[in-house]
Amino acid sequence: MSKVLSAVAWPYANGPRHIGHVAGFGVPSDVFSRYMRMAGHDVLMVSGTDEHGTPILVQADKEGVTARELADRFNRVIAEDLVGLGLAYDLFTRTTTGNHYAVAQELFRGNYANGYMIEQTQLVAISPSTGRTLPDRYIEGTCPICGYGEARGDQCDNCGNQMDPVDLINPRSKIDGETPRFEETSHFFLDLPALAEALGEWLDGREASGTWRPNVIKFSKNLLDDVRPRPMTRDIDWGIPVPLPGWEDNPSKKLYVWFDAVIGYLSASIEWARRTGDPERWREWWNDPAALSYYFQGKDNITFHAQIWPAELLGYAGRGARGGEPGTAYGVLNLPTEVVASEFMTMEGKQFSTSRGHVIYVRDVLERYGPDPLRYFICAAGPESQDADFTWAEFIQRNNSELVAGWGNLVNRTASMIHKRFGEIPAAGPLEPIDEELLSAIRGGFDTVGALIERQRFKAGIGEVMRLVGLANAYVSATEPFKLKGDDQRERLGTVLHVLAQAVVDLATLSAPFLPHGANRIHRIMGGEGDLVPMPELREVADLDDGRAYPVIMGDYSSTPRWASRPVVPGTSIGPPTPVFTKFDPSVVDEEIARMRADG
Ligand code: MF3
Ligand code: ZN
Repeated sequence: MSKVLSAVAWPYANGPRHIGHVAGFGVPSDVFSRYMRMAGHDVLMVSGTDEHGTPILVQADKEGVTARELADRFNRVIAEDLVGLGLAYDLFTRTTTGNHYAVAQELFRGNYANGYMIEQTQLVAISPSTGRTLPDRYIEGTCPICGYGEARGDQCDNCGNQMDPVDLINPRSKIDGETPRFEETSHFFLDLPALAEALGEWLDGREASGTWRPNVIKFSKNLLDDVRPRPMTRDIDWGIPVPLPGWEDNPSKKLYVWFDAVIGYLSASIEWARRTGDPERWREWWNDPAALSYYFQGKDNITFHAQIWPAELLGYAGRGARGGEPGTAYGVLNLPTEVVASEFMTMEGKQFSTSRGHVIYVRDVLERYGPDPLRYFICAAGPESQDADFTWAEFIQRNNSELVAGWGNLVNRTASMIHKRFGEIPAAGPLEPIDEELLSAIRGGFDTVGALIERQRFKAGIGEVMRLVGLANAYVSATEPFKLKGDDQRERLGTVLHVLAQAVVDLATLSAPFLPHGANRIHRIMGGEGDLVPMPELREVADLDDGRAYPVIMGDYSSTPRWASRPVVPGTSIGPPTPVFTKFDPSVVDEEIARMRADG
């Protein structure tokens, strides 16, 4: 049994989340965490909404509200959506809590004290009309290297080179087209060159483990080829104050949003410990080197999880070229065990685009189809290790032919035959080889599916579950229990239905990390009480430090069942089954596509 930190990327609270987001970080991390709990590990799954920085400010400006109002609104919308998807966080919080501010400032101070936050001047682009800093990615211009006309201030998408806004020829603001002016200003830079060797050693160790996805380890190692100090403060009025004399009260200099967001993993762990009555308990996941940590995200976040965050942790511990002492508040904190990054998901062949209305919101899918079909699509066909395309046609087809006609049908015919012929799960007579084969194949699933999920191979994992469902359906065709009508066949009928009941119950357990809602319904159809697997809940809480109210996702997951076959109990009464999954008319494909066009 290990301590396992499931660190899930923090969605920006600048709008409702679309299905691409939850395909990248949400569902995969939940499958993993649910499985690891079932396998007996002590999982702490944390995340929250990312509420600082320009993404929030830009949207707030657009809507004519304050950044805080915008963040309040979307923190709630996002928390509701994620709980609706069944994502079993121990704590889903936000970055505007008093706790998070304190933890982020402590990390900054620790890095500063050890010499890894260095003050330097920098040219920043300012919008002449608002006086505000224009973040790098909101500046566009011609690439000085390849001549591409729409290079961004952070990167040229044509030649892939990193940019500085000042390098761009004819720079202009993407927000309103105006030409920025550049001003010299002072900022704190994380001294990545002084941490590069320690980062390299850590990455070499991770590479040797052989467990990272190849593209992620390769990308992460490449980042070390060109390390420069990176600014961790910004000219912006929305963010966490820089905790140094002369800076603290400056209304227009704050910590960089990415500096504070990654610290959320630690601050949320601390908030969880404070909320659950044992304020030091977070240390079991952070200070014990034997604890494991898995960071789930989309591939555009790798830089921050495989370089910036580990660098902040190393700097805080005093483990770079400048030496230093571990910060007294938190000590030596664990670096990530695994950075699990997924690829991108397109929709109907095109990139998601909120502005063009080419988008599918989690909320709408949940309202119209419930959580199972979306979770299933993401697990079976999501962007796990290569880019994937979401189409409504495939969504409906997979739901109807795999979930409904495959898995749901197995459950329904098993339960309805048991209900009609016995009213309760019958005892088994002597097992024939065909019975033994099915039961042992499914029991073997606990090893095979478990090993796949543990290595974050969710697609292969759900594929194996569905293969076993197929074996059980083939067993029905081969044994033809519906034809066993005579009195002399009653014992054999009982045996076949007993075997099927066992198969269904085991498959419900095997499918639970992927499809927890469905697993709970199947559990009840098969005569179980309550839920097979626990569900997260939305709770209204008060900020531990300033008392402001906000919603969090939390849950009591102590009733999680073990990842093992549980023998069915003959005599368990089985009523007439209700459908497990819902079939959708293929006409919704055209409706949904038309809806997207109407919105766009
Ligand atoms: N808000 C970022 C995004 O949506 C992700 C932040 S992840 C964290 O891309 F590590 F910073 F928390
Ligand atoms: Zn270029």
